[in-house]
Amino acid sequence: MPEDRNANGTGRDGSTVSRRGFLAGGVGAAAAAAAFGIGLDACSGSKAATETAAPAPEIVPFYGPHQAGIATPAQLRLAFATFDVVSTDRADLETLLREWTAAANPMTRGQLVPGSSDNQNAPPADTGEALGLMPGNLTITIGYGPKLFDHFGLAAKKPRLLAALPPLPNENLDPGYTGGDIAIQACSDDPLVAFHALRDLARLGIGTVVMRWMQIGFGTTARTASPSTPRNLLGFKDGTRNIDGTDAALMDKYVWIGDESDQPWLHGGSYLVARRIRMFIENWDRDRLGDQEAVIGRNKTSGAPLTGHAEFDAPDFEAKDATGALVIPANAHIRLASHENNDGVRIRRRGYSYTDGIDPVRGTLLGGLFFIAFMQTPDQFVALQQRLGINDALREYIEHNGSGIFVCPPGLREGQDWAGQLLS
Ligand code: HEM
Repeated sequence: MPEDRNANGTGRDGSTVSRRGFLAGGVGAAAAAAAFGIGLDACSGSKAATETAAPAPEIVPFYGPHQAGIATPAQLRLAFATFDVVSTDRADLETLLREWTAAANPMTRGQLVPGSSDNQNAPPADTGEALGLMPGNLTITIGYGPKLFDHFGLAAKKPRLLAALPPLPNENLDPGYTGGDIAIQACSDDPLVAFHALRDLARLGIGTVVMRWMQIGFGTTARTASPSTPRNLLGFKDGTRNIDGTDAALMDKYVWIGDESDQPWLHGGSYLVARRIRMFIENWDRDRLGDQEAVIGRNKTSGAPLTGHAEFDAPDFEAKDATGALVIPANAHIRLASHENNDGVRIRRRGYSYTDGIDPVRGTLLGGLFFIAFMQTPDQFVALQQRLGINDALREYIEHNGSGIFVCPPGLREGQDWAGQLLS
C-alpha cells in the first residue's frame, strides 16, 4: 500500500509535506523549520546543508474533508482516551472544543500548545515533554459517544445509529475500560508525542471533562504497506486484507458516513468502535503451530492463506484437502471475518497491541489487541462480532474486556473548530 499521507482528503495549503519538499525550502519549509527551531540554512538544499539537515518533520494535514487518523496510515504508537463531560454548562463544552482544536492543529505540526509564555507565575501552556520533537505524523481524531447527545441541547444532532453497543458474545466488559462521552485517538510514530497530545488535551479539559479510561498502544496492526505487514502479539501478520485508506471507493462504501445517515452534518465522518481485547498469551504460546495456523486460516510465517502461497493471494474458502475437509477450517478467523462470508461487510481496522504488566494472581501476561475500527454504520462491527464471538476458533484465546462506540465528525476546514461543528 503506498504511503497515503494525503488520505484525509487534502494537503495543507493544497500540498503534502515530504522530506524532499521540506528540504527544497519555500514557505512551508520555513514555517516547519521555525516550528522545530531548525535554521533555514539546514534546509536550503545545498550539498553541505543537506548533509547536516535534520530529518524532515512528518506532518499529516490536520484540515481536510475527513479527520486524519482514519484513512491515513497507522503510525507506530497510540494514546487513546475517553472522557466524560462533567460540566453541565454548554458554554464550557464550547470553550473546551474550541481550545482543543486550537491546540490539536499546532501539535500535529510539531508546535507547542498556544499560549506558552515565560510567565514565572503561571503554569506553562504546554507541558513541554514534546518540545523539539518531530510530530512523527501525529494525528488527533475526535469522536462523540451516545450519551453526550442527551445533554447540551444536542438531541437533534444525534445520529439514529449512535447507541451503546448491544451485549456481544465473548465479552466480559470492565466498566473501567468502557464507554465515554468523547474519545480522543492520538497516533504518532513517537510515543512521547502521542502521549503529550493526549495529556495536554486532558489538561485543557480540567473542570469540563474527566478522563474515564486510557490505553497506550504500540505497533500498527492495520497497515498493509511495505516493507511488510506488521504482526500482532499472536505472531501473525495483521492487516493483510484490511481496507486500504487510499481506496476512495471502498472508503466511501464502507467507512465514511454518507447519504444513508439522518445527520447531514456527519457526512464524511465515521463510526469508531474500540475494543480492548485481552489475549491469553500463555495458552496461545503452548498451542502447536498447525493449530495456530488453523485458528487464523493463514500461514504464520508468510501470512499466506492456507489455500495460497503468498500473503496477498486471495483465500479460497471452497478448497478441500484429499480427505474432503475444508483447507481453511469452518471456524478459522479469516473465514468468519471475511467479506465474502458476511454479505460483503468490511471495516477499516486500525488497532494496536498493548501490554499492561502481569496478572497479579496468576503471574500471566496482561495484554492483547486494542482493536480500533472505523465504519459507516456500527452494525458492521456488531454483525461481525456476533459471528466471531460465537464461532471463531480464536475466541478460546481472547476476551473483549473494554469497549466504546463513538461517532467521529468529518474533518474541519481551516478556520473551523470542533465547537462550531458540534454546537452550532
Ligand atoms: C485479538 C483479537 C484479534 C486478532 C488477534 C485478530 C487477528 C487477525 C488476523 C491475523 C487476521 C488475518 C490478516 C488480515 O487480513 O488482517 C485478521 C483478519 C481480520 N479480522 Fe481479526 N483479529 C482479532 C479480532 C477481530 C475482531 C474483533 C474483528 C471484528 C469484529 C476482526 C475482523 C477481522 C477482519 C474483517 C479480517 C479480514 C478477514 C479477511 O477478509 O480475510 N478481527 N484478524
